[in-house]
Amino acid sequence: MTLTFPQDFTFGTATAAYQIEGAVTEDGRCPSIWDTFSHTPGATIAGDTGDVATDSYHRWREDLALLKDLGVDAYRFSIAVPRIISTPDGVPNEKGLDFYEGVVDALLEAGIKPVVTLYHWDLPQYLGDEGGWLNRRTAYALADYAGIVAKRLGDRVDTWTTLNEPWCSSYLSYGAKEHAPGLGLGPGAFPAVHHLNLAHGLMTQAVRAEVGDKAKCSVTLNLQFNRGDADACHRLDLISNRAFLDPMLRGRYPDELFSITKGICDWDFIQSGDLELIHQPIDVLGINYYSTNRVAMSDRPQFPQSTEASTAPGASDVDWLSTEGPHTDMGWNIDPDGLHDLLVRVHDNYPEVDLVVTENGMACKDQLTVNEDGTKSVHDPDRIDYLKRHFAAAKRAIDEGVPLTGYFVWSLLDNFEWYFGYAKRFGITYVDYATQERIPKDSFMWYRDFLASRKG
Ligand code: FCB
Repeated sequence: MTLTFPQDFTFGTATAAYQIEGAVTEDGRCPSIWDTFSHTPGATIAGDTGDVATDSYHRWREDLALLKDLGVDAYRFSIAVPRIISTPDGVPNEKGLDFYEGVVDALLEAGIKPVVTLYHWDLPQYLGDEGGWLNRRTAYALADYAGIVAKRLGDRVDTWTTLNEPWCSSYLSYGAKEHAPGLGLGPGAFPAVHHLNLAHGLMTQAVRAEVGDKAKCSVTLNLQFNRGDADACHRLDLISNRAFLDPMLRGRYPDELFSITKGICDWDFIQSGDLELIHQPIDVLGINYYSTNRVAMSDRPQFPQSTEASTAPGASDVDWLSTEGPHTDMGWNIDPDGLHDLLVRVHDNYPEVDLVVTENGMACKDQLTVNEDGTKSVHDPDRIDYLKRHFAAAKRAIDEGVPLTGYFVWSLLDNFEWYFGYAKRFGITYVDYATQERIPKDSFMWYRDFLASRKG
C-alpha cells in the first residue's frame, strides 16, 4: 500500500480490560456490572462471560510480544476500575495498581506509548447497586479513581482517555437493554448521559491535578454518522452526538435537545456549575468508527415521544432503514467514506481539537487453517481490505486539513465482544479459546508490513 501518513502519526491497536483480562476474582478485584450482567441468564447471546476471556491478566507478556512483533507506536488499553477501587471505602487496591504499572513499564521499555482508557464500562458493582450512572455520586467516585491512577502512573502514560463511548454506557445500557446494567429505561437514560459527561470533566480535572498541564487528556466517542432525511439525521445528531460533544467542548447542551425531549425528560438533574465542570480543555478527541446508519422520518407524529426502551429517546418518530451491503459479521455496513465525512464534519464543527481514530476494525467469520507443515494460519482478506479502505479514507481527511494524529485498529486479538460474547472475532490475532493460543491472522502480517514500510 502506498499510503503515506505523516511521519509522526501514531499507529496502534486497542483492547479493553473486561474483554481480555479474565482473572475476575484475583488480586482483590471486585465484581463489576459486566460480571453481574454477563452472568444473568439470557443477557449475552450464548451466556458467555468475561471470567476467562483471553486470560490476558496472566498472558499480558505474550500480548506484549505480539505488539512488539507488530511494530506499533502505541497500545490503547483500559484499566479495570474494579481492580483499583475494589472497595467502597476509597482505599486503592495496590495489587491492581502494581499490575498496570508492570504493563506500562514494559510497554515503555518496548518503545510503545501507553494510551490509557480509564473507563471502558466495568463499573464496580457496589456503585451499580447505588444506581450506577443514574446516581451523580458515581461521577465523583470515578474522579477519585482517575486521581489514584494518575498519581501512580502520571509520569509514564502518553494519553489519558476518560471514557470510552459514553453513548454505549448510557443509551445502550440504561436506555436499551443490550449492555450492563440493561435497564431499558428509554428517556431514563438521560441522567446517565449527564452524569457520564460530568464524570468526564471531573476525571480530566483529577488527572491534571496529579500530572499537571503536560497531561494529554482525551475522551473517546462513538459518533453516529447517519445518512438519509436531513431532519432525521439532525435529530439523531442531537441525541447521539451533540449530547456529549457540546457539553464537553462547548460547555452547553444544545437548546434543541431540550425541545425535542419535552414531555419525556425535564433535565432537572443538571445542577448549577455542572457545565463548567464538564467543559474542560482536552488535547485530543478519540473517535471510534465502524459503520453508518440510514434513517428517515416516519409519518408518526413527533409528540408525544415514546418512553419505551430505546437507544435514541426523543426520536421515536424516526425509522432506521436497512443499509447497503456488504456487511460485516456484526451486520454492520462497510462505509469508508463515512469515516472521511465524519472526520471532516467533526473538524468543521470543533476545529480546535486534534482527532484520533481510537477504534476501527471488522468482525469476520475467521477460520483457522492447519497447514501441511503443522503451522496455523487465518486468511482474512476481507479485514485487510476493510482496513486498507478505512486507512485511505482517513488519509484523505488528513490531506484535506483534518488534524488526525493517530489510528488504532480494533483489536489486537479476538476477545469478549460484550452482548455477542466470543461469537464475534474482531482481532488481527486469532485466539483459540480452548487453549488460549494466539495465532496472528493475515491482517496482522499485513499491518506489520505496513508499519515496517513506514520505518524503512
Ligand atoms: C466498540 C467498543 C469495543 C468493541 C468494539 C467492537 O463499541 O468500544 O469495546 O466492542 O465496539
